[in-house]
Amino acid sequence: MKNKTIAELLALYPFLNEFFLQNRLDISGAMKYTLEEYIAQISQEEAEEKAINKETLYEEMTDYIAQVQAFLGIEEEERVRSLTILPGQTKSGEPERFGELTVAASQIVSIVGPTGSGKSRLLADIEWAAQGDTPTKRRILINGAVPDIKWRFSSNNRLVAQLSQNMNFIMDLSVKEFLEMHAQSRMIENADEVIKRIMEVANDLAGERFFPDTPVTGLSGGQSRALMIADTAILSASPIVLIDEIENAGIDRGKALDLLVSEDKIVLMATHDPLLALMADHRIVIQNGGIHEVLETSAQEKELLERLRKTDAAVQNIRQSLRKGKVLSSSDFS
Ligand SMILES: Nc1ncnc2c1ncn2[C@@H]1O[C@H](COP(=O)(O)OP(=O)(O)O)[C@@H](O)[C@H]1O
Ligand SMILES: [Mg+2]
Repeated sequence: MKNKTIAELLALYPFLNEFFLQNRLDISGAMKYTLEEYIAQISQEEAEEKAINKETLYEEMTDYIAQVQAFLGIEEEERVRSLTILPGQTKSGEPERFGELTVAASQIVSIVGPTGSGKSRLLADIEWAAQGDTPTKRRILINGAVPDIKWRFSSNNRLVAQLSQNMNFIMDLSVKEFLEMHAQSRMIENADEVIKRIMEVANDLAGERFFPDTPVTGLSGGQSRALMIADTAILSASPIVLIDEIENAGIDRGKALDLLVSEDKIVLMATHDPLLALMADHRIVIQNGGIHEVLETSAQEKELLERLRKTDAAVQNIRQSLRKGKVLSSSDFS
């Protein structure tokens, strides 16, 4: 919560305005700051004058939220702290060899394996919160328990945000209209601020500028993927994000993952991209439809990742230069 901006907090909890008012805190110019930044910049004199305690302000605020919600009869959706995969079977019906795999919030897991080996199937098992009722016979637990069946069917508060390749379902909308539609469906009050932030973040990820009035169908692959990621990270309530092969999207992949993780999400992604595979904390190796092994990214692999990042940056630069019509020399790759 400390990493959310004041604008986002107000969007989630409109009644927080009252809390700031009660404490005589003026937040009108602070919408873009995260709560942590905002509290940090309150001077000691100001704190004394307003009789507030900077150390306890955060807890007072969360207490306040809990109290108001209890009063309003709103139950806070139970937070997803972990996702557990229990073994099932391979395509040939042999038991999977791992014990169980638990992923905590803010962790990234990559899924690697040849085409057709079952990566998308694993993502689908998670999306469906499988309970032995898919071809793999896997079972999925949330916070260590069989999840409520409502996760499967409620479309508004989905357990999982799937970043799909396909944006055709929102044909004919401008970027702004799409985001407004999404904000509305989440009943967000000061949608404008939130939409602005999503635009900023998406543009940062895409590297190629686009605008609120750009039609969604007019976005490049990279731009639309960037939009989906920013939208998922900032506006989607889904605690789990599943990504199926985004490598060719032409976005800043490192930043995209950082963003998703900073929003406390659990991220699982199927990928053939070494950079993405090594950015994960854990790596699931799929063979013949089964989870063959679960590896932890080693220190050596992290070192390798740093070298890959540099190479990747060099390739990106060259791509940019070529786009601008520049003539390259061998020193452009260094
Ligand atoms: N354990 C399994 N048992 C039966 N069928 C499986 C299993 N795992 C995957 N499959 C099936 O194999 C096919 C290819 O899997 P898929 O997940 O699309 O592979 P990938 O995404 O790695 O290319 C799909 O039809 C999928 O349903
Ligand atoms: Mg696949």
